Amino acid sequence: MTQSPVRYDRQGAVGIVTVDSPPVNALSQAVRQGLWDRVTEGFIDPDVTALVIVGAGRTFIAGADIAEFIKGGMGEPDLNDVNDLIESGPKPVIAALHGTALGGGLEVALSCHYRVAVPKALVGLPEVKLGILPGGGGTQRLSRLVGAKTTIEMITSGAFIPAPKAQALGIIDHVGEGADPLAIALSFAASLPAGPHKRTRDREEGLAADRGSSVFDEARASLAKSARNQFAPQRCVDAVEAAFTLPFDEGLTRERELFMQCMAHDQAKALIHVFFAERAVTKIPDVPPSVTPRKIGQVAVLGSGTMGGGIAMNFVNAGIPVRLLDLDQAALDRGMGVIAKNYAGTVAKGKLAQAEMDKRLSLIQPTTDYADLADADLIVEAVFEDADVKAKVFRRLDEVAKQGAILASNTSTLDLDAIAANTGRPADVIGMHFFSPANVMKLLEVVRGKDTAPDVIATAMAVGKQIGKVSVLVGNCDGFVGNRMVQYYATEAQRLVIEGASIEQVDQAALEFGLAMGPFAMGDLAGLDVMAFIRARRVAAGLIYGTPLSDRIDPARKGQKNGRGWYRYEPGNRTPLPDPEVAAMIDAYRAERGITPRTFSSEEIGKRLIYSLVNEGAKILEEGMALRAGDIDIVYIYGYGFPAWRGGPMKFAELSGLDNVLADITRYHADAAAAGDADGGYWEPAPLLKRLVAEGKKGFG
Ligand code: 3HC
Ligand code: NAI
Repeated sequence: MTQSPVRYDRQGAVGIVTVDSPPVNALSQAVRQGLWDRVTEGFIDPDVTALVIVGAGRTFIAGADIAEFIKGGMGEPDLNDVNDLIESGPKPVIAALHGTALGGGLEVALSCHYRVAVPKALVGLPEVKLGILPGGGGTQRLSRLVGAKTTIEMITSGAFIPAPKAQALGIIDHVGEGADPLAIALSFAASLPAGPHKRTRDREEGLAADRGSSVFDEARASLAKSARNQFAPQRCVDAVEAAFTLPFDEGLTRERELFMQCMAHDQAKALIHVFFAERAVTKIPDVPPSVTPRKIGQVAVLGSGTMGGGIAMNFVNAGIPVRLLDLDQAALDRGMGVIAKNYAGTVAKGKLAQAEMDKRLSLIQPTTDYADLADADLIVEAVFEDADVKAKVFRRLDEVAKQGAILASNTSTLDLDAIAANTGRPADVIGMHFFSPANVMKLLEVVRGKDTAPDVIATAMAVGKQIGKVSVLVGNCDGFVGNRMVQYYATEAQRLVIEGASIEQVDQAALEFGLAMGPFAMGDLAGLDVMAFIRARRVAAGLIYGTPLSDRIDPARKGQKNGRGWYRYEPGNRTPLPDPEVAAMIDAYRAERGITPRTFSSEEIGKRLIYSLVNEGAKILEEGMALRAGDIDIVYIYGYGFPAWRGGPMKFAELSGLDNVLADITRYHADAAAAGDADGGYWEPAPLLKRLVAEGKKGFG
């Protein structure tokens, strides 16, 4: 028989129930059963008068076992039965919190009669981030303690709340000192009042004020905007409202119904996929955890322009000193000025102390002298996107960098192996492709060259984590993963317009799908001049299908930066406005090609945009340029504003049915061929997609 992950022992008159199920004490079936058995043991133990539930290791209980959700069939006992047992037993039960008490973990704690915590503990109900809602009584019990407004805020945001704040709100009864939750609970138990010890379900303090209040409708209206198109947040409000309109047991039943509705929804499948995909990206088969990353104490950044400045900020924000090199003092002054202005903006918003800003700025040492890079452990190059300039810079770096230093390039489109060939140490060369604005965007594509050493990869991944990025390992191909896919998406947006949709309609369809921005607005933000520069190289190298409208638009239209791009912009205003000049250009182009514009639904536009990503993603996957389909999803969610609740483009394709997706892609390909439109050549269905569908597979695996 396997050993239970929950044990029982005794200290004086207190029975101690310890959950010991690494890594995070999630409520698997075995943990639920163990809690049931050990709590029962404590209730019948004649020598104890109170129980403590505590977590072993780094945390209390981080919630339901999310892996069980995927397997389906959660098995007895149900969490609600365990919670009922704890709450309705004959002896008071104290939850002793440290680490995180999340989701089902907080629901267990709420079912206890008292909650004590170490100061650093965090509590939260983050189910909404998985597309579900608390299903172990959390909506009903928390409402009884803190009222509707706080409950709705916590449940619809999924925020983690520090113990002292949770105490102030009335969720935690006592925050002790130190880091030992059991010691705090034992001393609390020693001074417990004689009783009776109220069950949370019988408490009323949170209910009275909000019965019949407008708080529910207000929350629904606000979520309709902030969580547009999302299923779970509205159901969260419904569940909380039930606490105010129904007796406890009926409220629990309602909560369960809503929980099951969420669980059955594609959005839960998408978000649960994202949870695991985000953790899977750290796992690289030939770079196991046994590969020790190199030590990074001093960083250097080359180029203090748009990207270099943001990259430098990332490091100093994490306390790592940076030497920032540029061609001349004027460029450095400009770069440092932008960095200082960025920090000042954060200080003005009250999100950063002035002293902290000064400290961070003092960690950046501007220089024009390559000799100053000699002690850097990691050098990130972010100079002009020009192969000759990069070659010169890497030859120079090879001369000055110390042995063992990692030489990283932030190139977005150039061949990393060609860059590495300028050095005598290609094993130390890697791509670290940040996304703009580099100090804000969470994505870091770590690009592996053909010679990059495993410990260099391990270091880039570890450093990425240290500076708060989600790092995804990608292969060295044109545009890597994200930009390689986005070029087809951009082309498809233009093809849709040529066929009859308007620029505004295409962007609107992308927004309706849930993307943060439409493709044309994105182009204007990135800069049409920058994109034209990159496109010219790609077209010359035969790497890209045409972007016909990009070739027609007036080169003076640079995007937001000069107020004229696919849209026009009023001075000082980023709102895109339709521009008749651009519409006329499109009309002329259609006429030239003899195209009679047709109408499109948002759905058709959305499909064509997203499937262009999917088809290229499948090619990338087959070539091994991404390790997993989930890695591509993470690139899109953290780098391109793809809605997490859609799961990323590859998961979206799985949820739409790979066979359906292939049928549409095949039709788009045939349509392009029939129209003699070579620009649609990329619709050639990915061989991987065809094979998976032929084999009856439902996913990319
Ligand atoms: N179920 C299953 N596995 C879990 C888990 C959970 N609830 N929480 C974490 N894990 C796993 C992770 O997948 C990871 O596994 P890996 O090492 O194989 O990749 C491992 O535990 C460590 O997790 P992290 O890498 O995320 O560790 P961190 O220290 O960075 O973060 C954490 C710890 C804050 C607890 C974070 O893991 C987290 O937010 N977990 C999810 C919490 C959550 O959403 N709880 C609610 C679940 S739903 C629920 O409870 C429903 C209920 O109402 C009925
Ligand atoms: P930028 O033009 O804003 O900045 C480049 C900086 O490099 C300038 O300050 C310039 O003076 C400096 N520089 C040029 N040659 C140099 C040399 N030989 N030695 C030292 N400094 C030199 O360019 P940006 O946008 O910051 O791009 C830099 C790199 O980042 C490029 O490789 C680009 O492809 C990549 N990138 C850009 C993104 C963007 O959105 N702008 C996104 C991701 C990557």
